[in-house]
Amino acid sequence: MRGLFVTGTDTGVGKTVLSAALVAAIAAEGESVSAYKPVVTGLGEEPAQEAWPQDHELLAQMAGMTPEQVAPLRYAPAVSPHLAATMAGERIDAAQLIEPALALAQGGTLIVEGVGGLLVPFNEQFTVRDLAVELALPLLIAARPGLGTINHTLLTLQAARAVGLEVRAVVLTPWPRRPSDLEQSNRETIARMGEIEIVDLALVAHTDRSNLAQAGANLPWQKWLTPGRGTHSRT
Ligand SMILES: Nc1ncnc2c1ncn2[C@@H]1O[C@H](COP(=O)(O)OP(=O)(O)O)[C@@H](O)[C@H]1O
Ligand SMILES: [Mg+2]
Repeated sequence: MRGLFVTGTDTGVGKTVLSAALVAAIAAEGESVSAYKPVVTGLGEEPAQEAWPQDHELLAQMAGMTPEQVAPLRYAPAVSPHLAATMAGERIDAAQLIEPALALAQGGTLIVEGVGGLLVPFNEQFTVRDLAVELALPLLIAARPGLGTINHTLLTLQAARAVGLEVRAVVLTPWPRRPSDLEQSNRETIARMGEIEIVDLALVAHTDRSNLAQAGANLPWQKWLTPGRGTHSRT
């Protein structure tokens, strides 16, 4: 399967921005690309003023898909997927998450946006990390540039590598135009201690396709999509 699995150190760290930029940039090169968001929650929340579109709506716009194709499982409460399902009297099972991804990947490159961080449960026996393992996609980790990010990012790297997931890069987002000493130091420290490539994603001002494609064009996605050392790629 050709694609990338975008996870993050937390919820609200820039996974959607990064995923949308990747989809837009890949599509802009004329490559066939799909987006997959296994579960969206919080659809019942009142959107904040000037808020970005919902994850599956933005990804759908970039991929030329419908929001329902991007995210087959959608829940209103802003809670973890396992709780949202329980509140709806359902249980999400692994096959329900894996099968749509396999179907979408038939059509070309697949960009998966995870839900929250790696150990977020779909049910108590199956986490976001388990889905990444099943799909055998290399990971990108979206992380904040500021205080607290070293711990969160190194924890996420460890959790990924502990199960054999290959992490292609940590993406610090939004990377400021004039990074502070702390932010510069965080960047260098994570690179050394985590033995990982760090890439910056600048602030994207608008959610339209051209802005996101431009942001994505600055990311080395072609290299990230090339099967590499240690990737147990599944066809
Ligand atoms: N590069 C960026 N450009 C613009 N906004 C960003 C960027 N990175 C993060 N953000 C902001 O951070 C917030 C969370 O981003 P989002 O991608 O929705 O996170 P996640 O998908 O991890 O929950 C959003 O309000 C978004 O506008
Ligand atoms: Mg998101």
